[in-house]
Amino acid sequence: MQLRNRQWKIAGRPVGRDVTEADFASDEVPARAPEAGEVLVRVDLLAFEPAMKGWMENIGGYVARTEIGDVMRGTAVGTVIESRADGFSPGMQVVGPLGWQDYAALPASDLRPVSNPARPSDDLGVLGLVGLTAYCGFKAIGQPFPGDTVMITGAAGAVGSVVAQIARIGGCQVIGVAGGPEKCRMLVEEYGLDAAIDYRAADFAAQVAAHAPNGIDVVWDNVGGTILNTLLGHLAMRARVVICGGISRSKTGGMPVGPENYFNLVFKRATMRGFILHDHEALFDEGRRRMAGWLAEGRLIAREDVQHGFDNAPRTLMRLFSGANVGKQLLRLDHGEEQA
Ligand SMILES: NC(=O)c1ccc[n+]([C@@H]2O[C@H](COP(=O)([O-])OP(=O)(O)OC[C@H]3O[C@@H](n4cnc5c(N)ncnc54)[C@H](OP(=O)(O)O)[C@@H]3O)[C@@H](O)[C@H]2O)c1
Repeated sequence: MQLRNRQWKIAGRPVGRDVTEADFASDEVPARAPEAGEVLVRVDLLAFEPAMKGWMENIGGYVARTEIGDVMRGTAVGTVIESRADGFSPGMQVVGPLGWQDYAALPASDLRPVSNPARPSDDLGVLGLVGLTAYCGFKAIGQPFPGDTVMITGAAGAVGSVVAQIARIGGCQVIGVAGGPEKCRMLVEEYGLDAAIDYRAADFAAQVAAHAPNGIDVVWDNVGGTILNTLLGHLAMRARVVICGGISRSKTGGMPVGPENYFNLVFKRATMRGFILHDHEALFDEGRRRMAGWLAEGRLIAREDVQHGFDNAPRTLMRLFSGANVGKQLLRLDHGEEQA
C-alpha cells in the first residue's frame, strides 16, 4: 500500500517579524520506501522549540542552513513501520529528527529507541534536549551552591521550569520570572519555587530588588533584552549569568542591543557566558540518570502542552512566541484511521 505523506515546508523567512502561518506551505507526496540501512517511521508526536524560528531565518550558524521548500525540521517520537536496519523492528517507538510530516524514511543512525515506552514524550522534553539543556547548562555554567539566589527568565517554559526545579532540589533560593499572574502562581504552588515575578508588572524592577536583597548569584536567561538588563543590575558578588536563549529578540531580526548594565559584571567580578547544549555531551548520561530519578521520586514535574492535528503545526510553533504554551510544547499528529 502506498502511504500518503503530508508535509509542512518552509515558505518564508520570518526575519524581523513574528512567524506566521504564511511562512509554511503544506504538500502531500507518497511516503518514500526505506533503503538499506534505513527505517520508515510514522511521526506521532512533534516537539517545538523557539530555535526553530532561527533555523528558518538562518541566524546563528550552529545548525545547517535551511532552504525555502525544505520540509520543516523537528524532533519527534514515532513508530517504526518498516525497517531495513538492524536493531529496529515494526512497532518500536523511536525518537529522532523526523520533521513536520506524517512519515520519515531515514538512516537508523539518526534514531534511537525511546527511553521509556510508557512515557515516550519524556525524550522530547525532560529526558531530551530540554532537560539536558537545563541540567548541563545549570551545572557547568551556573555552578550553583546550596543557598544561592537563582533567578530564571522564561521560568514557566520547558527549559526554564526544569532549571527552576533543579535549583530548588539543590537547595537554592529560586525566583522565577514569567509572563502573567497565572504562570507566576503555578511556579510557586506547583513547582515549589520561593517566589515568582511577572515581568509585565509595572514594578518589575522593584520586585527583582525586593526578592534579591543580597543580589542574584545565578541568572539563567532565556529571554534577553530589557529583562536581562534589569537582572544584571542586581548581581551578587561573583555571580554567574548563564545565557541560554534570547526569545525577546524574535521580532527584531538581528542581535539585541547590548545591555546597559553589563558593567556591573566588573563591579561584581561576575561572569556572563553563553552555551550550546551539544558542547556538554559528557554530562548527558549523568543528567538523564539524575532527572529520571527525580521524576520517579516525584521531585521533578515535567509539564507538557499537547496540541493536536497535523494542520496545527504552524500555529503550534507560534504559541511559543505569544507565551501561550505552559511547559514543553508538543503536537500529536492526527493520522491513524485515515492512513490505515
Ligand atoms: N543554548 C542552548 O543550547 C539551548 C537549548 C535549548 C533551548 N534554548 C533556548 O532556551 C529558551 C527556552 O526554550 P524553551 O524550549 O524552553 O521555550 P519555552 O520557554 O517553552 O517557550 C517560550 C516562552 O518564552 C516566553 N516568551 C516569548 N516571547 C517573549 C518575550 N518577548 N519576552 C519574554 N518572554 C517571552 C513565553 O513565556 P511567558 O509567558 O513567560 O512570556 C513562552 O512561553 C529559548 O530561547 C531556546 O532557544 C537554548
